[in-house]
Amino acid sequence: MPKLNTTLHIDMFRDGKRRRNLSSRIWKAIEILRAKEDLYGLEWGDPETMPPLSYVRDHFLTPYIISPNTTLVEIGPGGGRWTRYMLNAKQIYAVDYHQDILNELKSNFSKTNITYVKNNGDDFPNIKAGSVDFLFSFGTFVHLDIDIIDRYLRNMKPLLHRDSNVVIQYSDKTKPLGKNNGAFSENDPDVMRELVLSHGYAIYEEDLKTMWHSSIVRFGLEKITI
Ligand SMILES: C[S@@+](CC[C@H](N)C(=O)[O-])C[C@H]1O[C@@H](n2cnc3c(N)ncnc32)[C@H](O)[C@@H]1O
Repeated sequence: MPKLNTTLHIDMFRDGKRRRNLSSRIWKAIEILRAKEDLYGLEWGDPETMPPLSYVRDHFLTPYIISPNTTLVEIGPGGGRWTRYMLNAKQIYAVDYHQDILNELKSNFSKTNITYVKNNGDDFPNIKAGSVDFLFSFGTFVHLDIDIIDRYLRNMKPLLHRDSNVVIQYSDKTKPLGKNNGAFSENDPDVMRELVLSHGYAIYEEDLKTMWHSSIVRFGLEKITI
């Protein structure tokens, strides 16, 4: 702990004053205007600059694209806020209910390893059984009602193999910011856990702390020990 005669607080006060002066604020505004905020979705937060989202990227996304052999599915990619970290994978299935949004994603990433899949809201047309190493969804299940999540959990199972990982961020109404968000579905860790387990998955990890309005679960098919 700093001593009473520490300059810490006066230093912080002076630094704050400097940051709030007009020329600093103008420079900051210019930096924001020059920043590349042209991907649909960055308005909800940029994993490059928002620590909780950087953590999600570094802990729940990039570690699962460990080799250029990875085949992955992203459900609800939007403009590609998270897709841009997946581009080294062998095959990315970008699955979305809205063709207009898939078109937007396509205009942002003209990569040959992305297959754009327009689905019916809960299915995986033309994705081969047992072929998916990693399935990721952020910013989408927070809006989905339980019956749709239930159907997704059923339909994704045949795609997986025993080493696959699934990461899903979902609405958490036990948190004030989740509760007050009218666009978020009625869900919470108890409900989600039970739902995931009811489909016979094993839960590998739950993160109830990083996000203020939602939680994250990582699961897969129970590993068989021989
Ligand atoms: C709020 S955006 C999030 C986009 C992106 N994941 C992000 O975090 O920036 C929700 C995305 O989910 C898609 N979506 C909504 N309902 C869906 C469903 N039932 N199945 C697949 N995609 C869906 C939307 O079209 C949109 O691309």
